[in-house]
Amino acid sequence: MNSIRKKISSLLIGLAMSGCVWAQSAQQSKSPWWKGAVFYEIYPRSFQDSNNDGVGDLNGITQRLDYLKLLGVDAIWLTPIYPSPQVDFGYDISNYEDIDPQYGTLKDFDRLVTEAKKHNIRIIMDLVLNHTSDKHPWFLESRSSKTNPKHNWYVWRDGKGPGQPPNNWESYFGHSAWQYDQKTRQYYYHKFYIQQPDLNWNNPEVRKAMYDVERFWINRGVAGFRLDAITTLFEDPQMRDEGVVKDENGKPMTNAYGDPQLDDTRTNDLPQVHDVLRELREVADSYKGRDVVLIGETYLRSVDDLKKMYGAHDDELQLPMDMQIGFINKFDVAQFRQRIDEAQNNINGNEPLIVFDNHDNPRWDRYGGGKFHDDIGRVIATVLFATRGSAMFYYGDEIGMVTTPPKRKEDVKDPIGITGWPKEKGRDGERTPMQWDDGPNAGFTGPNAKPWLPIPPSYKTVNVAAEMKNPDSILNWYKQMIELRRTVPSLRYGNNIMLNTSDNHVLSWMRTAPGQAPVIVACNFTAEPQRISFDLSKQGIVAKQGKTLMKTPGMSDPASLSDVQLPPFGVYMGEVE
Ligand code: GLC
Repeated sequence: MNSIRKKISSLLIGLAMSGCVWAQSAQQSKSPWWKGAVFYEIYPRSFQDSNNDGVGDLNGITQRLDYLKLLGVDAIWLTPIYPSPQVDFGYDISNYEDIDPQYGTLKDFDRLVTEAKKHNIRIIMDLVLNHTSDKHPWFLESRSSKTNPKHNWYVWRDGKGPGQPPNNWESYFGHSAWQYDQKTRQYYYHKFYIQQPDLNWNNPEVRKAMYDVERFWINRGVAGFRLDAITTLFEDPQMRDEGVVKDENGKPMTNAYGDPQLDDTRTNDLPQVHDVLRELREVADSYKGRDVVLIGETYLRSVDDLKKMYGAHDDELQLPMDMQIGFINKFDVAQFRQRIDEAQNNINGNEPLIVFDNHDNPRWDRYGGGKFHDDIGRVIATVLFATRGSAMFYYGDEIGMVTTPPKRKEDVKDPIGITGWPKEKGRDGERTPMQWDDGPNAGFTGPNAKPWLPIPPSYKTVNVAAEMKNPDSILNWYKQMIELRRTVPSLRYGNNIMLNTSDNHVLSWMRTAPGQAPVIVACNFTAEPQRISFDLSKQGIVAKQGKTLMKTPGMSDPASLSDVQLPPFGVYMGEVE
């Protein structure tokens, strides 16, 4: 009897296991393309100039597709390339259905999509829904009179009294978020620059117009959108003041622009945004078989808020950006461990999208640099690519480009750097031209052209050509990591389990997929050598040896998994044999 039971139960376990493997592989083969994908953010002004005017363009990107293919990225996100007065370098759009002549034409765009497809690379557009340029025909009409049919397309209010804006709300870019308009004698709301009036998302006509824009670009072949400032679409209907943030001594805080620091509760992350996300998703999903992906710019307060962005029924964003991990901004093992764990376990089993850098924030050299620059880069890239989820990085990160802010106010191009100087130097430092080689203008533009932002002096050694030739370069680390994600199933699909969880110097984890050799990863978060021992018995693993997949240059292969010696900011990744 007992033995029959045993047989039946082992049969059931066997069936369940093979079911698991089957489910896993079925899921893998059915998986939408963006799951586990690597996204590369391009700031088109700064990537590659093809016509020697000092500004990067679409044809420049097309010229560099071979490089992107070699790097191994699955998709490129282009920051806005639509016609724009360029006050916010493209985030102030004056026509959503064309290309700014600085960057090329619709024909150039179509060619980029076609050529990218040949390289197996998809294009993600940046969709700016919160606001338009003040030169957009919609706004020109809106401000022409209070009775114009488009007046209600934007957020207009009467002042509280003469010379007094409707409330205390502030722009993220400094000072009041309300701008008085002589003609209508009303104020319009702008969460960003004065030249970026906020659209009124309570107006169904605005929604319809924007969903048409979404369709326009999907019809042109894009694979998805990065939704700009998506949490700021709505404002408190009662227009209540925001609270002032206080420091630990109860003193009201001031921001870099000298204004009171507000708590952002009436103008950010309001629940109504979820209705819009569902509607955007419906449009995306109506393109059957295309797996159009919606990525969100989601700076949020917690992982719980992030979880909501996927939608109660997984019907909103597929990939809200996880800024919780990448923006810890210091090497703190405990915080990294906790947030990686949360990203794995507290988002309803959805796919995390980890991001460290973008065009709005200093590059990863903010974690240290100098002597250990490349080692720190390897740690960042390992956390990015070897934890479960999709990954996104910013052009130039892969070669270790250094944030290079302007030294003088008169050189600043980003307007917030002028308003906020010297506390806020703006975002020019992370937008400098891509460093392709050590020739004139780093190969970004012609030798006689003047790049729109100066080339950082580091280009002599930090450049694609030099790093391609050096097997130990940071570029080759990125390339190999991306390649391993593609070829090692545990790394691409496996679960993510934190290891050695009381160690405060080394962050370690394991990736496991059914039927596949587990992969263990260890990153030294300190400037001193560290020695660690893996005890995998809790995971039911008795193996004592690892087959090295990646290790910091110069490091020797560990004699066994119970004695892994890591140099300062050293990384080890091995398959458990
Ligand atoms: C987003 C963009 C940023 C832009 C702002 C206003 O945060 O990333 O560059 O300035 O939105 O559109």
